[in-house]
Amino acid sequence: MTVSTATLESIVALCKRRGFVFQSAEIYGGLNGVYDFGPLGLLLKNNIQNAWIHSLATTDYSITFIDGALLGPEMMWKASGHIDHFHDPMVDCQNCKHRFRADHVDINKPCPDCGIQKWTLVRQFHLMFKTDIGAVAEQANVAYLRPETAQSIFVNFKNVMTTNRLKIPFGIAQIGKAFRNEITPRQFLFRVREFEQMEIEWFCKPDQAMEFFQAWVDHRLAFYRTIGINPERIRTRPHTPDERAHYSTCCTDIEYEFPFGWKELEGIAHRSDYDLSQHSQHSGKDLSVFDDATKTSYLPNVIECSVGTGRLFLALLFNAYKEEQTPEGDVRTVLNFAPSIAPIKAAFLPLTKQQNDATERIYRDIKKNLGIAVEFDVSGSIGKRYRRQDEIGTPVCFTYDFESEVDHCVTVRNRDSMQQERISIDKIAQYITDFLKD
Ligand code: GAP
Repeated sequence: MTVSTATLESIVALCKRRGFVFQSAEIYGGLNGVYDFGPLGLLLKNNIQNAWIHSLATTDYSITFIDGALLGPEMMWKASGHIDHFHDPMVDCQNCKHRFRADHVDINKPCPDCGIQKWTLVRQFHLMFKTDIGAVAEQANVAYLRPETAQSIFVNFKNVMTTNRLKIPFGIAQIGKAFRNEITPRQFLFRVREFEQMEIEWFCKPDQAMEFFQAWVDHRLAFYRTIGINPERIRTRPHTPDERAHYSTCCTDIEYEFPFGWKELEGIAHRSDYDLSQHSQHSGKDLSVFDDATKTSYLPNVIECSVGTGRLFLALLFNAYKEEQTPEGDVRTVLNFAPSIAPIKAAFLPLTKQQNDATERIYRDIKKNLGIAVEFDVSGSIGKRYRRQDEIGTPVCFTYDFESEVDHCVTVRNRDSMQQERISIDKIAQYITDFLKD
């Protein structure tokens, strides 16, 4: 029986306790809005990204992947519209000196932190990180860390299309870092200053764009189902005209119901030919394609699907976290991740020290033959070790006991049902392979 679901505090504490996520440079006081992924966090992040790649690679669509640079020249960001438009309204409380995004507070009311109403004027704050390339700081050498991965795709559109002999429609996808100097990073991984995005830009003929837009919304919703997101916690929300980004002609957010409200997980945008047209004009390079049927050239339209890996990581933690009453009367914390998402796929536990060597041999054998993340844990009572694996979301534990020497079987314990069954040691690899397929 579930006695409690996740709060932001319980998720942050679990991430630190079990080595999923650490505040970056914590021993120096930390860097606000910047996080490091620990061993379990990296495994979880990799599984999320692999699931995303798999969801694209297994469509009927033609999709290719790139890995663009993090730094881009000023001219590129001028063309993309980021230099002129990528800012947020900012306001400070003159009493407590706390800073807010002006669209996140009601400036007709007192400051939510100190209760005094003494606001500065609202100013625009630019969100990109600027740097100089090379030894001489001159205007020509100004570069910016990318605030979205998308622009590396647009500027490489022709390179990718011609070198891969692609025909419209096709997609270019990318996973990579993005940087935004957020005014108020908050809610742990939800809004940070350095993060990873998983983006796909789908290039199509203008008259097919709306049809593909809907197809991509459906595709992305199906993806969330396959990675185990509770369908009741996910919804789509079309943008109103006044909230659309400067490049977008229509946009739908996929939102997740976090404990702090329904919030954007992924944005799906119809970007029309905005980006290709801007880069054509600013670079002087023709980015149009030739249509064999009509014998005319045109700029493809773009449908974009963009999700932050860290934000999805956080949603999956909230989705999976439960505190449950056990039949013995105590409370256990469990992360019931889908097996494909779970950082550790199985744990191998000797019942007592006498079974350490035999259990370790099985563990090494599985690790080597299946090439998956598995754990061998000897410390603490068996009950404590089960709890530890529940808390990091390991779907099954195999326990080797006194009987195992005789019947060549182990006990498999299921994380969710806590049911136990006995299986032959030589069936373990198949057992794991089967549940990872689900
Ligand atoms: N290329 C389009 C684009 O970047 P966006 O809505 O600004 O659009 C897309 O960002 C996704 O990136 C968001 O839905 C969110 O998942 C993630 N994201 C954006 N800013 C973020 C931040 N500061 N921290 C964490 N994730 C962020």
